[in-house]
Amino acid sequence: MKDQLINIKDSALAQINECVKMDEIESLRVKYLGKKGEITDILKGMGKLSKDERPVIGKVANEVRSEIEEAIASKKEGIKAIEKNAKLQEEVLDVTMPGKEFKVGKKHPITQIIDEVKYIFTGMGFKVAQGPEIETVFNNFDALNAPKNHPSRDTSDTFYIDDNLLLRTQTSPVQIRTMKSTTPPIKIIAPGRCFRFDAPDATHSPMFHQIEGLVIGEHVTMAELKGALNEFVRQLFGESTKTKFRPHNFPFTEPSAEVDVTCFKCKGEGCSVCKGEGWIEILGAGMVHPNVLRNCGIDPEKYSGFAFGMGVDRIAMLKYEIDDIRLLFENDMRFLNQF
Ligand code: PHE
Repeated sequence: MKDQLINIKDSALAQINECVKMDEIESLRVKYLGKKGEITDILKGMGKLSKDERPVIGKVANEVRSEIEEAIASKKEGIKAIEKNAKLQEEVLDVTMPGKEFKVGKKHPITQIIDEVKYIFTGMGFKVAQGPEIETVFNNFDALNAPKNHPSRDTSDTFYIDDNLLLRTQTSPVQIRTMKSTTPPIKIIAPGRCFRFDAPDATHSPMFHQIEGLVIGEHVTMAELKGALNEFVRQLFGESTKTKFRPHNFPFTEPSAEVDVTCFKCKGEGCSVCKGEGWIEILGAGMVHPNVLRNCGIDPEKYSGFAFGMGVDRIAMLKYEIDDIRLLFENDMRFLNQF
């Protein structure tokens, strides 16, 4: 019996030694030490032994059991350590590897200009208004006092959808919508897309952007128009910017003016941006025509006001020295990423 126990011990220790996996060692534990294990089996036969033999064999059995237990425990530790190392190896992270680049987008230069203009005018108490790009012929022309034979109404100048609808040629119909739907005092700017039947070239695009401004109240004069626009150009182009109001003609304003600013690049000396003029034309403006007020149900005896409109694309082109308007709409990232 003693030999049997020693044999069991030897083969157990040999098998344990060869083990490389946790589940293998666990099944060896069951095989040798479990309730139905080999040692238990032998101990069951102890009853047949003589009184003298029993304690001797019992002692050997206990020794064999504890040796096997120890071997299993230390093997388990070993396997655990090996498995842990393997896992660490697997998860090793090379912090010197180049990272994945995460690109954050940015606003289109047109949107940047619109945001800047909005910021300046909202700072002066203006609200931002919007209108649809598909307008009625009435809002785009008639209500704005454009005579029936005005050249801009021609089908060669304007995209008509039918007799009553068109793609707005200017943001000025937002004036009409605002005056019809609210009562003075009114102080709005209206940025948006406009459309004209122009063949694309370096300075023309059939789709472009304007920002309209409108102020209506009691005793609003041209002095306020000049004050607001002077402040606007100072903030947009720099403190020393001056304005020049040249007489002009728009159907919806009387008197009307085109507004030039001193070139923000050469400060008026003459350069390539201002084509040697020292001045750059940036907007149209004027006092709202009494007919327009009347068309919107506002009494021109009580109220007066001014309006202005500017081309956003043109301002973006001047500010960023872009020489072809088409670049703004081609969405070439190499171009757009410069702004
Ligand atoms: N809508 C005019 C244009 O497109 C600009 C403008 C707006 C002029 C408001 C005067 C007042 O040319």
